[in-house]
Amino acid sequence: MSKPLRKVVFPVAGLGTRFLPATKVVAKEMLPVLDKPLIQYAVDEAVDAGADTLIFVTNRYKHAIADYFDKAYELEAKLQEKGKDELLALVQGTLPRHVRAIFVTQPEALGLGHAVLCARPVVGDEPFGVVLPDDLIWNGPTGSGKGALRQMAELAEAQQAGVIAVEEVPHSETDKYGIVDATRIDERSALIRYMVEKPKPADAPSNLAVVGRYVLPGRIFQLLEQTTPGAGGEIQLTDAIEALLMEQGKVLAYRFEGTRFDCGNKAGLVRATMHMAMQDPTLVPTVRAFLQQL
Ligand code: UTP
Repeated sequence: MSKPLRKVVFPVAGLGTRFLPATKVVAKEMLPVLDKPLIQYAVDEAVDAGADTLIFVTNRYKHAIADYFDKAYELEAKLQEKGKDELLALVQGTLPRHVRAIFVTQPEALGLGHAVLCARPVVGDEPFGVVLPDDLIWNGPTGSGKGALRQMAELAEAQQAGVIAVEEVPHSETDKYGIVDATRIDERSALIRYMVEKPKPADAPSNLAVVGRYVLPGRIFQLLEQTTPGAGGEIQLTDAIEALLMEQGKVLAYRFEGTRFDCGNKAGLVRATMHMAMQDPTLVPTVRAFLQQL
């Protein structure tokens, strides 16, 4: 893990069934939190971490994500003609100039591990980040704090190890997450002893749950290739990380600074939307008044 983080993979080929019927045609990652789609928050976090190559693992139906980051000639020309410079900058600013977007197809939804493996030809043998856009992580009152992925990339480089984001969840919810058993190093980081996928609360070794951010070495691809389908018949990223742990003995769990919103379900998306609305002084009075009325 000696190189700084340059490449980040966004696995976005899932079916998004929890948002049907909207996700019949709208990719889950294009659902907006106020005026920005979830994928934009994820991309901003990756760029903040230093990435200049973004790899989107999509499926054949999700053209909207590629369209969103592409040039919108007609719209841009119209905005320019009308002198709407601020809007033009917003439309053109979805991806900074020095950053390139590469799209890879996952032919079948065979699991998160399989989706990450699809990015192998682009990532090669260097350390890379994985960001699941439905976990929106916001740090600082206006999002101006260090992004979760940047915090993790710095730790990965300093410690020469893979780093996985974790968060404490209620004990009753361990069966929704990968759970780690880890030895504390300091306030935020711990050395993982082992990981279990979705244990019942009574069997869970802790309440430290794996959430959607990873910094991994290129070696994970070989391990993913050897990974057989696990829970739910899917190729699990967790299983390959477990193999990495056996091999290298050092993978870190990191309790990031920031607030996570699980926008993969309706309640999380509502919370994220309310949170963002309360960060916008022009919306605060309306939101407050409306909530009181409710
Ligand atoms: P989820 O478990 O949230 O599944 O995937 P999903 O299909 O997106 O949503 P639901 O559960 O049906 O509502 C976690 C992440 O892994 C990606 C998803 O796009 C999401 O970012 N993923 C999952 C893939 O890219 N490919 C897969 O085969 C599975």
